[in-house]
Amino acid sequence: MVKPFQFSRLPKIYFKNGIIAELPSIVQHYGNKIVLVTGKNSFLSSGQAAKLFHEFKNEGIKYYLLQVQGEPSPDIIDNATRVFQTEKIDLVVGIGGGSVIDAGKAISAMMNRSESVVEFLEGVGNKEHPGTKLPFIAIPTTSGTGSEATKNAVISLVGKSGFKRSLRHDNFVPDIALVDPELTFHCPKEITAVSGMDCFSQLTEAYLSDKSNEYTDALALEGLKTIKTSLTRSYLNGDDIEARTGMSFAALTSGICLANAGLGVVHGFAASIGGMYNIPHGMICGTLMAKSNEINIRELRQIGNNPSALKKYAILGEVFLNKSGHTDEYYTDSFVSYLYQLTRDLHLTGLRKSGFSEKDIRIICSKTEIKNNPVKLAEEDLAEILLHSL
Ligand SMILES: [Fe+2]
Repeated sequence: MVKPFQFSRLPKIYFKNGIIAELPSIVQHYGNKIVLVTGKNSFLSSGQAAKLFHEFKNEGIKYYLLQVQGEPSPDIIDNATRVFQTEKIDLVVGIGGGSVIDAGKAISAMMNRSESVVEFLEGVGNKEHPGTKLPFIAIPTTSGTGSEATKNAVISLVGKSGFKRSLRHDNFVPDIALVDPELTFHCPKEITAVSGMDCFSQLTEAYLSDKSNEYTDALALEGLKTIKTSLTRSYLNGDDIEARTGMSFAALTSGICLANAGLGVVHGFAASIGGMYNIPHGMICGTLMAKSNEINIRELRQIGNNPSALKKYAILGEVFLNKSGHTDEYYTDSFVSYLYQLTRDLHLTGLRKSGFSEKDIRIICSKTEIKNNPVKLAEEDLAEILLHSL
């Protein structure tokens, strides 16, 4: 029987190699004064940026450039909002990785507000955002977070009393997701690996989530099939257009799935560890993925109250093993083996090398929420995952 579900709206999606060339004409539908948020490096140093700026000039589009490095802090959003509020901005455009898109999304949401963004962050502030915002176009240059299709922007304050929390509203789904796989060609190898693992974990967790539904399941499986054919290939050869296009599709799809099905234990850790340490989100997800799924399966088998989640694990094994005629148990175990092998193939280092300290395991476990995980995990299970992933 079809389960009850809700499905949020989608951005208008343009998915095509070379579609960035159409950005100036798309922008003109909204006006001619934009805030353009980018990262510090890759897009601006590519030939595409120079071409785009030339076209903006030709078309009379005035752009205010804001470069953001790393995950956006409340100060970055508040300062940018204060500066740009004095201009009559028509549109915000974010071109970059997930952090850049989140920064653009948050700025577009805060342009009509006088408060600090902190006041609207889940679990930190106590105000509800009304959802009014400037139009926002998201243009990813990495294949990972899927932020181009989600309704939240992650804002981070790193440190002992740090946090990593979302500014969220259904209206914050970008108006347009302009997905041009060619923009990911310059993405460095290590970022291709960790953002790809972020995307893989999002698809897997949304598929296994207790909030998943028929739509998210169908989409997640398509995304996962593409992960299988594209992730390692795009890591080994960044110029492989087919693999890069596949990963752009998988990342976009992962965003749609997570926005509608939620995520599990890996992303619970990404939030708690990410609030205390300056470790890239995808590195945390990629490093913890194999062990987290192994423990999920162990607990699902022991508790035995969620056979449909175990069946889904078997389906994942079938997708990645590509061999017929085996038992569900065999496929399920094969999926975990595949994850361990992939962790090695992508050369993901343990958490310790990224600066994680063993002494924080207890506090991290106590702060880790696992809202939509297919099985409840005790703090001992969480500690076991972390200890193994050092
Ligand atoms: Fe993620």
